[in-house]
Amino acid sequence: MNINDLNKEELEDWKKACKISAQALAYGKLLIKKGNNLLDVTKKTDEKIIRLGGKIAFPSQVSMNQIAAHFCPTKNNNPVFDNQIVKLDVGAHINGFIGDNACTVDLSGENNELVKASREALNNAIKIIKPGITLEEIGRTIQETIMNFGFSPVRNLSGHGLGKFEVHTKPTVPNYNNGDETEIKKGDIFAIEPFATNGHGIVIETSNPTVFSFVQKKPVRDMTTRQILKEIGNYKGLPFAKWWLEEKFSLFRVNLALRQLENLGIIRGYPPLAERDNGLVSQAEHTILIEEKAIVLTKF
Ligand code: CO
Repeated sequence: MNINDLNKEELEDWKKACKISAQALAYGKLLIKKGNNLLDVTKKTDEKIIRLGGKIAFPSQVSMNQIAAHFCPTKNNNPVFDNQIVKLDVGAHINGFIGDNACTVDLSGENNELVKASREALNNAIKIIKPGITLEEIGRTIQETIMNFGFSPVRNLSGHGLGKFEVHTKPTVPNYNNGDETEIKKGDIFAIEPFATNGHGIVIETSNPTVFSFVQKKPVRDMTTRQILKEIGNYKGLPFAKWWLEEKFSLFRVNLALRQLENLGIIRGYPPLAERDNGLVSQAEHTILIEEKAIVLTKF
């Protein structure tokens, strides 16, 4: 989206949502410690967004090691932190205007360079961005930075535009030189999110999604599934976590409903994305606004 399409209050909402996202990310990052569990981090980070006066744009996600993105723990699958390299991705919104940011914590102490690679790629991209720069130039900077560290960018994950109640819109901001000569305009707001890996640089979908979103209305016969669908309606089409439903309904009913709703095409799942060669993955992300240069909105 571009700020020319917004009024003053909407822009203020957006800036505030970005600030809350950054505060919640910083808070959640501190909870990533050996011996702690994932659900504790995701739950407290989600709650932090609410406490700060925001709403949750998507469930806080904690993806580890070769999983690049889209993992949320559940009550039955709630790993404990040990020596993993951990990505935390957090998003808040106010009236639908979304701040999106992410960071990486390396608990092993052995992957500092990998963590730095994605962070430096993000910083270097932010440094060169100004009105008129092309998407391929941003991608090239990210790619070169990561390769200078001896790693590969993940090519099939990318930064993205943000819309009202939409986490992913145009443009696609590539993590490599993809040849897209589209120019960035003054007033654009989008997220940049380089991923670096010591693997090949491609992620693939795994199974058992724990993050979902509503797609379209259709009739549902089953009574309990209808109740769960009503709850899903409260999320306004934004992504939601399976564990949110587990707080309100039994695991049996949640599993049944999610399966039915997915089969009917009423919701869709976002399975965890794993690096194809099981390479370790790091990530860094900010939401930025283009003025004369890039202004980082996800900071405080
Ligand atoms: Co993002």
